[in-house]
Amino acid sequence: MMIKMRVNGKSHELDIQPGESLNLILREHLGLTGTKKGCDSGGCGACTVILNGRAVYSCMTYGPKADGGDLLTIEGLSKDGELDTIQRSFAELYAFQCGFCTPGFIMATKALLDSNPQPSDAEIREALVGNLCRCTGYTKIMEAVRGVSKKGG
Ligand code: FES
Ligand code: FES
Repeated sequence: MMIKMRVNGKSHELDIQPGESLNLILREHLGLTGTKKGCDSGGCGACTVILNGRAVYSCMTYGPKADGGDLLTIEGLSKDGELDTIQRSFAELYAFQCGFCTPGFIMATKALLDSNPQPSDAEIREALVGNLCRCTGYTKIMEAVRGVSKKGG
């Protein structure tokens, strides 16, 4: 089946199988491998992207659901070779080690700060509850998100 979607501001028309996930479409059809495939079953958040303004697990979203949608992936954040404020904050505050979970955390953070630029710690935790990190212990990630929201993100 054919679907259309905008990804990082660019329109695409794609020939997909109805059962293909958005994760597979991004990585295999569009070569956007910044969106990671972790558990592939809704349990880790590594695959998080923003679809029509909301953070979603791309592994749990079927391609047809994204038809006509507006998608933002980690590749869409930097502008003119400059990292955006969330990416910078994660780098400056050492909020990752292996980095596998990082695109998902950054996209979940982006969705949070777009709707709530000054979240409380409880709101940050709630927004990131679906994202797992095996390396950092979360303290640095919290600091990075707080760092962006203080700067007005
Ligand atoms: S890869 Fe999608 S939630 Fe783990
Ligand atoms: S930095 Fe390794 S899983 Fe998060």
